[in-house]
Amino acid sequence: MSAQIDLHDVGQVFQVRGDDDNRKRDFVALDHANLTVRAGEFVTLVGPSGCGKSTVLDLIAGLTTPTSGTVSVDGRPVTGPGPDRSIVFQQYTLLPWRTAQANIEFALEAVGGWSKAERVERAREYLELVGLTEFANRYPHELSGGMKQRVAIARSLSYEPGVLLMDEPFGALDAQTRERLQEELIDIWRRTGTTVVFITHDIEEAVFLGERVAVMSSRPGTIRTVVDVRLDRSGDAEEDIRGTRDFAAYRHEIWTLLREQQQSAPRPVKVEVASVA
Ligand SMILES: Nc1ncnc2c1ncn2[C@@H]1O[C@H](COP(=O)(O)OP(=O)(O)OP(=O)(O)O)[C@@H](O)[C@H]1O
Ligand SMILES: [Mg+2]
Repeated sequence: MSAQIDLHDVGQVFQVRGDDDNRKRDFVALDHANLTVRAGEFVTLVGPSGCGKSTVLDLIAGLTTPTSGTVSVDGRPVTGPGPDRSIVFQQYTLLPWRTAQANIEFALEAVGGWSKAERVERAREYLELVGLTEFANRYPHELSGGMKQRVAIARSLSYEPGVLLMDEPFGALDAQTRERLQEELIDIWRRTGTTVVFITHDIEEAVFLGERVAVMSSRPGTIRTVVDVRLDRSGDAEEDIRGTRDFAAYRHEIWTLLREQQQSAPRPVKVEVASVA
């Protein structure tokens, strides 16, 4: 099950208080952002800190409403959160007083539509999908960071959303765990066919995961370029994909695009301090 996402000329203006006075003023977080993510596609989103990546995800999730333009999923405008879209954050968001199994059952109960027996079975199935069958009865504090994120992913997928939104989900993990989870995520994505939008500030992660990498710029935040990543992922090629020349070329391309964004961003005003003679 998968859904198409369309952002059409999306603008997001927040009301913020000024530094010097307490008066509210407009802050343009997103300006004319356009992006289409095809059903079943895996798109990664990169950009300088504060450029509006999380805002884009929040808009798709329906946690915020755009000031202008439209955000739609499968042709229907997003008006609020719904079980057709699921989000995984960097911070672990499991309920600490429930086991891994019960965390997933709870989400299924909240979404509704499954009997108790179906919820139990479904939670088991999705814990198996993320390789955590043996840890079903552990509480979050008894799980490693990587395991907690696996449970969060299983929970998100358990009600079969058409869209999986991920906001730096592996940002808090060590390098080895992160790489393993990236590989597992690709595998899960292939098996479920869900549309994925994945935010990261890690260029390698963006190239490894994304069929396309959307590069954002800041001030105003917008989607600047979308890079098609065409890597040979067939058979054994996937194993060493990070070490290939093609992979390095994409990494360099995205790095260059990001550097351009940083260089064109307004710099902080340099204050000259006059020396006292
Ligand atoms: N609710 C809000 N009210 C006011 N300003 C906001 C709000 N949410 C976000 N912003 C501002 O909008 C801009 C974009 O924020 P956003 O969180 O989307 O950036 P980001 O690209 O995800 O950054 P990071 O990489 O640091 O996570 C920032 O300047 C932020 O301060
Ligand atoms: Mg963010």
